[in-house]
Amino acid sequence: MRIDKLLSEMGIATRTESAKAARAGGITVDGVPVKRADIHIDPDKNAVTYLGQPVIYRRFTYIMLNKPEGYVSATDDPKERTVLELLDDRHRRLGLFPCGRLDKNTLGLLILTNDGGLTHRLLSPKHHVTKVYAFSAERIVTEEDRQRLEAGVTIDGELTRPAKVVLNDDRMSGKITLTEGRYHQIKRMLEAVCNKCIALERIEFGGIPLDPALKRGEWRPLTAEEEALLTSHQ
Ligand code: URA
Repeated sequence: MRIDKLLSEMGIATRTESAKAARAGGITVDGVPVKRADIHIDPDKNAVTYLGQPVIYRRFTYIMLNKPEGYVSATDDPKERTVLELLDDRHRRLGLFPCGRLDKNTLGLLILTNDGGLTHRLLSPKHHVTKVYAFSAERIVTEEDRQRLEAGVTIDGELTRPAKVVLNDDRMSGKITLTEGRYHQIKRMLEAVCNKCIALERIEFGGIPLDPALKRGEWRPLTAEEEALLTSHQ
């Protein structure tokens, strides 16, 4: 792989910046300065530094974001603020996109990645990745409603897959576990039992819980364990 490609894929430097840095002796390979940035190296074997910093090559990046209200789950939008705007410049250059969607007013765990293959697999209707949401409803969810939500309600003429619904003592809030991700699914499921969702937060995705240390709008790379869990979904 070319050094300048490696550095641009990592969001570290553009090709022009890499060429300039190489000419100035700012790029080393295995401890030796290289004069050109278009030479080929093996990122798994060669140790590269850029302006004195080691460059750890990672093919894909996986980020956990605690999505705040008011941001759309898109990479760009003519009118709305996108979740990508919450990242720093380097991460914004990595070609990340949201792995699934949360509504503009839904909060919580959103994974951002540039691993298109994994995203495709996780979002395919055949793949039933588990998502857990904390919700508040306008009215009490009766035991009959709870059982209907669990068994499946009809949205757009199609029954929802079996879900798990655990209510808090007030019976107006609780947790719903889904294994699919249809448009406005929880809002429409509650509407199907003559109720209304008034607050929604995703608290788990594919077995990965939202890190309680992340404030709204904050993000961090997935840990090695979280990344292994996410990419183990085949
Ligand atoms: N269900 C919804 O209604 N909205 C979301 O953002 C996620 C699940």
